[in-house]
Amino acid sequence: MMAPRVPGRARTLVVGSGFVGTGIARRLARAGDTVTLVSRGRPARPPEEYGARWSALDATDSAACGRLVSRLRPERIVLVHGPSDVTWCEAHPEEAAAAHAAVAANFAALCGTSRLLMISTDNVFDGHAWHNTERTPVSPANAYGRAKRRAEQLLLARAERAVCLRVSLVYGHEPVDADKWLNFFAACAHRLTAGAPVEAPDDHWTTPVHVDDVADTVAALLTGTDPLPPVLHLGGPDRITRAEWAAVIAESLNAPAGLVVPVPKARSRYASRPENACLVSELLPTLPATRAVSVRGVRDGARDLAAAFLS
Ligand SMILES: NC(=O)c1ccc[n+]([C@@H]2O[C@H](COP(=O)([O-])OP(=O)(O)OC[C@H]3O[C@@H](n4cnc5c(N)ncnc54)[C@H](OP(=O)(O)O)[C@@H]3O)[C@@H](O)[C@H]2O)c1
Repeated sequence: MMAPRVPGRARTLVVGSGFVGTGIARRLARAGDTVTLVSRGRPARPPEEYGARWSALDATDSAACGRLVSRLRPERIVLVHGPSDVTWCEAHPEEAAAAHAAVAANFAALCGTSRLLMISTDNVFDGHAWHNTERTPVSPANAYGRAKRRAEQLLLARAERAVCLRVSLVYGHEPVDADKWLNFFAACAHRLTAGAPVEAPDDHWTTPVHVDDVADTVAALLTGTDPLPPVLHLGGPDRITRAEWAAVIAESLNAPAGLVVPVPKARSRYASRPENACLVSELLPTLPATRAVSVRGVRDGARDLAAAFLS
């Protein structure tokens, strides 16, 4: 049965119910959208808790996507699915490329006049530029970046109203009992509050962005009716190494600074990431839809999150 159209409530489909997808779905549901979140497995946090619902979908299956879209008739579609693990993609480059290409092709074919927004990544750059703007030539750093870039190309070639929002490292709260912590901030914060050391590269630069600020930006882009540029960047205002960021997190939690151990990126699990994973937007601040959205810096982000990690 098709999802009912409640006046003033947009039907929104969020493909991927992981860390970023949940943050976006929660924000849209709270704003009044009728949100359906899909993934192969049920998300850890029940979407019903924040007013959304969940359906099972393998988004690489074109027939299953077709059935879902006929049933829901979404007016907005957000692609925020995996595989997102850079290390896994490096070990399984063909599977990663095939999955991202299939999902992009499926929804490009099905979206019609609906707004289609895909969350993309800074890994489409090789990391040599200090900052990457929307005009910086792409040159993917790794298998994950190549898979995401191919998905961007498919989407933009085949879907008229598609937007690729390339986002820097996203951070936010995750509970201590999660199966695994999906973001650097949460992993650091839980280790530091337990008195455990954190190894963090001092030669891997990023512009971290709070998951709620990503969600606000997505909500603004989906709501506006103006035409949007095909590619947009979203990074936080601070260009910072992971080691410096871990020190900020330690300070916000009153954890000893000595628990943060700077290491070279090459000797860390981030070896295949671009050295400068930094995004700057020349366009977002100029768009009517997003002009008013503010993105907090890492100190404000750490302050806003500290209480949740200390409780
Ligand atoms: N996290 C970041 O810092 C960041 C930064 C920039 C861009 N991004 C992009 O944002 C997206 C999501 O990132 P994330 O951190 O939220 O990843 P995540 O926590 O690993 O979530 C990925 C989600 O996608 C689902 N998924 C994977 N394959 C699927 C398929 N074939 N069909 C339907 N659902 C599928 C997963 O559930 P199942 O496995 O149960 O299907 C999971 O719910 C990725 O594309 C990534 O490139 C993330």
